[in-house]
Amino acid sequence: MSEALVEIKGLEKSFDAVRALRGVDMEIAPGQVTALLGDNGAGKSTLVRCLTGVHPADAGEIRFRGEPIKLGSPDDARRLGIETVYQTLGLIEDLQVWQNLYLNRELTTGFGPIRVLDKKAMISSSREILSKLDVDVPNVRSSVRRMSGGQRQSIAIARAANWGRTLVIMDEPTAALGVRETAAVESLIGRLREDGVTVLLISHDMAQVKRVADVAYVLRGGRAAARRAVAGTSGDELVGLITGALEGDARA
Ligand SMILES: Nc1ncnc2c1ncn2[C@@H]1O[C@H](COP(=O)(O)OP(=O)(O)O)[C@@H](O)[C@H]1O
Ligand SMILES: [Mg+2]
Repeated sequence: MSEALVEIKGLEKSFDAVRALRGVDMEIAPGQVTALLGDNGAGKSTLVRCLTGVHPADAGEIRFRGEPIKLGSPDDARRLGIETVYQTLGLIEDLQVWQNLYLNRELTTGFGPIRVLDKKAMISSSREILSKLDVDVPNVRSSVRRMSGGQRQSIAIARAANWGRTLVIMDEPTAALGVRETAAVESLIGRLREDGVTVLLISHDMAQVKRVADVAYVLRGGRAAARRAVAGTSGDELVGLITGALEGDARA
């Protein structure tokens, strides 16, 4: 399986006496939605932080398109096209939607040392980014403060997908959303997949995993305890693997 987008081998990370990751082996296939499951404390967030350059791993290897990589900072991950949507979203309330989409990546125009922000270009391409993904935000010049929870989540995902052309990682993107907003975010995930974006999705909602994911990895006690093709696995079986009631085999 050397065609993996990301290959993780023997990844270890401790915080003093706490061994958060105890040798995680995992592969993320390109163009698929991979779900990352596990009970609280299983190591999901730590794994994501190692993958995005927030934490340096203590041991093990991460390969990206077959090449060993060292992620020393979030910028290293960004350069590879890896973007993360954290639960906090990282949107600035008082800024308009287009400003959030271009936060820290502003377009400029002009010649030589005289650069000015190209507001017109950013506004019009923000409209394109959102309409291409069918995100329901009527006006890119409204401030984020006026957006619903679902709209905010969608804006954060659209931003990540726009810059993270290879891998978008989402940490429980629908945890705070109602039924309709959850459905909108799930169809957005489906459109990213159709667009060829690879998604790593942390979720506690087994029905959601069944709806949107291709493959599920279950972390337990800092190890990948099981890997399952979602189509052939019931939600109950996934829950059993998460709690440890069922024994998994990561190579299954
Ligand atoms: N920054 C940190 N400092 C100390 N311990 C941490 C830190 N981050 C995570 N841990 C510990 O590592 C283990 C795994 O946590 P985490 O990766 O957050 O799990 P999950 O996201 O699956 O709930 C837990 O025991 C947690 O308390
Ligand atoms: Mg977590």
